[in-house]
Amino acid sequence: MSSDTVSKVFVIGGTGAQGIPVIRALVSDEKYSVRFLSRDPGSRRAKDLLALDNVSVLEGSFADEAVLREGFRGCDGAFVNIDGFNTGEKTETYWAIRSYEIAIEEGVKFFVYGNLDYGLKKSGYDTRFRTGHYDGKGRVGEWILFQNQVNGDRMGAAVFTTGPYIEMVLSPGTPMTPTVEDGVLTWRVPLGEGAVPHLALEDCGYYVRWIFDHPERANGIDLGVAVDHIAYADLAAAFENVTGHPAQYIDTDLDTYFRDGPLGRIADAPAGYNADPNDKSTMNVRDNFTGFWNLWKHGVVERDYALLDEIHPNRIRSAEEWFRREDQRGRALGKGGLWERVQLENRAPILKTGEDLRTGKL
Ligand SMILES: NC(=O)c1ccc[n+]([C@@H]2O[C@H](COP(=O)([O-])OP(=O)(O)OC[C@H]3O[C@@H](n4cnc5c(N)ncnc54)[C@H](OP(=O)(O)O)[C@@H]3O)[C@@H](O)[C@H]2O)c1
Repeated sequence: MSSDTVSKVFVIGGTGAQGIPVIRALVSDEKYSVRFLSRDPGSRRAKDLLALDNVSVLEGSFADEAVLREGFRGCDGAFVNIDGFNTGEKTETYWAIRSYEIAIEEGVKFFVYGNLDYGLKKSGYDTRFRTGHYDGKGRVGEWILFQNQVNGDRMGAAVFTTGPYIEMVLSPGTPMTPTVEDGVLTWRVPLGEGAVPHLALEDCGYYVRWIFDHPERANGIDLGVAVDHIAYADLAAAFENVTGHPAQYIDTDLDTYFRDGPLGRIADAPAGYNADPNDKSTMNVRDNFTGFWNLWKHGVVERDYALLDEIHPNRIRSAEEWFRREDQRGRALGKGGLWERVQLENRAPILKTGEDLRTGKL
């Protein structure tokens, strides 16, 4: 499989936090063009993408076989990030599997699956770690690698296993949104002495581009990425070092977190906003994110940082490095420094779901 197998990539989730840097990295030169799927091509994010060279849009939902077919047809690459926070775990599983099958049928040559760790399996099948939006992807990731053992010559496949975006530690409407308490930036989360393998979105674009550029090596890979496993006392210290403003981490029990924390208002709602609350397979936000925090608190997920150093020698390696870059980037864009940007009136959501307030069709 040569590196010019793919020239046009169909992207599902392109207007999302993850999709935007992926598309930007793919069209940063003339090598690839992108067609992305969106339910709303008139959104600000869609318009920003369409202003780039070699980017077009297909309107529709991934939960529609005819749309998937049209999207994959005429493309030789695919990057598929099915939004489990729309669908819920059960529906996500179905459409992720169908995406892979339809991509093969429509002649795609290389398929990249936006994955998350199969935490339940990695924990030894311990219910404390059940996280619908992780297991829903992780099971399909394994299934794709298994299919790829026989299909890999016809359509190569790589599983791209990410983790909580580091951008979420400053953004509103995320599981780790901080508060400013008496002038101290404060993270109150149920992490204990654990550490979160946060990923920087900028690096996300680089890694996906690397996969498409190196199909021989990437075929069959499960590329697990992160900046580092970041303990939140270290996160707070890094923020202080970069901004000169005080920050703290306060370990918080789960009951207090789901009562008073950033997810408190929606704790009893389905984790996927279009999932059926009466379906017993549907996890609510409380159960889903209890598993999520337990994964990090108990160190269930690992990363091969030596491999990441090899693939991406200039990757972001620490929270402090990311804070510093983000501080400089914000200043260059006229948004001010990080300290200004964490004040309530200046915060902007990194997730499109946050911008859309958990609404939109399936
Ligand atoms: N938050 C994190 O730290 C994190 C980390 C790794 C992985 N993930 C996973 O990434 C997925 C979400 O992507 P994101 O993080 O980029 O979130 P996001 O910023 O909220 O973006 C959601 C994306 O999904 C698209 N989408 C939603 N429903 C759709 C539908 N029915 N048909 C077509 N497109 C649809 C949206 O497109 P339109 O609105 O334009 O249609 C948008 O591009 C989730 O499965 C989540 O578990 C999240």
